[in-house]
Amino acid sequence: MDNKDRIKIVREPKWINYSAAVQIIKELNDLKFYPKSSRMPNVLLVGDSNNGKTALIEKFISLNPAMFSKENNEMICPVIGVQAPPEPDERRFYNSILEQLLAPYKISEKLDARQIRVKNLLQRLEVKVLIIDEIHHVLAGAPTKQRKFLNVLKFLSNELKISLVCAGTKDAFNAIQTDPQLSNRFVPRVLKRWKFDNEYKRLLLSFESKLPLKEESHLIEDGYAQKILALSEGLIGEISKIIELSTIWALENNLEKITPDILNEIRYVPPSDRKKMIYKL
Ligand SMILES: Nc1ncnc2c1ncn2[C@@H]1O[C@H](COP(=O)(O)OP(=O)(O)OP(=O)(O)O)[C@@H](O)[C@H]1O
Ligand SMILES: [Mg+2]
Repeated sequence: MDNKDRIKIVREPKWINYSAAVQIIKELNDLKFYPKSSRMPNVLLVGDSNNGKTALIEKFISLNPAMFSKENNEMICPVIGVQAPPEPDERRFYNSILEQLLAPYKISEKLDARQIRVKNLLQRLEVKVLIIDEIHHVLAGAPTKQRKFLNVLKFLSNELKISLVCAGTKDAFNAIQTDPQLSNRFVPRVLKRWKFDNEYKRLLLSFESKLPLKEESHLIEDGYAQKILALSEGLIGEISKIIELSTIWALENNLEKITPDILNEIRYVPPSDRKKMIYKL
């Protein structure tokens, strides 16, 4: 394989089964088997930006594809995922669900009718878990707008008796806390920033095992591991990027492993310094 192909491999998204993700995915999977009740359990996945929320959700969705039911050969879809629209707009929110289900909608369709159609479709497809990523977008803004969306979440959870999995930042968590009914139905699950421990070293080992380099870099050695953690500020997206850039640098310079010099050569700017650089402009 030539270097161009190897660089392509380095850039491909990968999935690493770190223990917090495995645990959360197991909990999400359990939701599928929860009997229908008026108090369905919901999960709120909270974490800083670039720390693995969407990747985890996508992994869970990929493990639960749509299929044909054995009983009547109808399409069923136990898990669906949508992105919340960038602003608190109910109509657009229902549209994203309809789009995800490949159901056409008319601009003129009234909100109520749209809501009923979403409800019917989700029922027909036997959806058990509805995932809403970027939930902080619709829970942002004025308290009246926030409340409207908290009611949408209640409607979906109560009427359909399905579990909701919402992912977002701390703002979403705070918004949900303002509603007692929802706050005791949403179990928060936090993707914490990585710190210097064995779990982090296992993560580095896994990343290294996927590199198309011929020699071992020993990224778990303290020097590397500390440096990568400092540069990444504990965010998995940054850790992954630092390793990706270092590997590409190695390949472009005909090296078969990442060396301490390379971590300097890539001139990685930690995320919080990036902001400072912009403000100084
Ligand atoms: N389990 C994983 N294995 C390998 N890489 C991962 C994993 N989880 C996340 N990453 C890396 O981290 C990057 C950021 O993750 P992700 O997009 O899930 O963050 P996020 O928490 O959804 O951020 P945002 O709040 O900005 O949407 C991914 O593009 C991927 O490179
Ligand atoms: Mg995301």
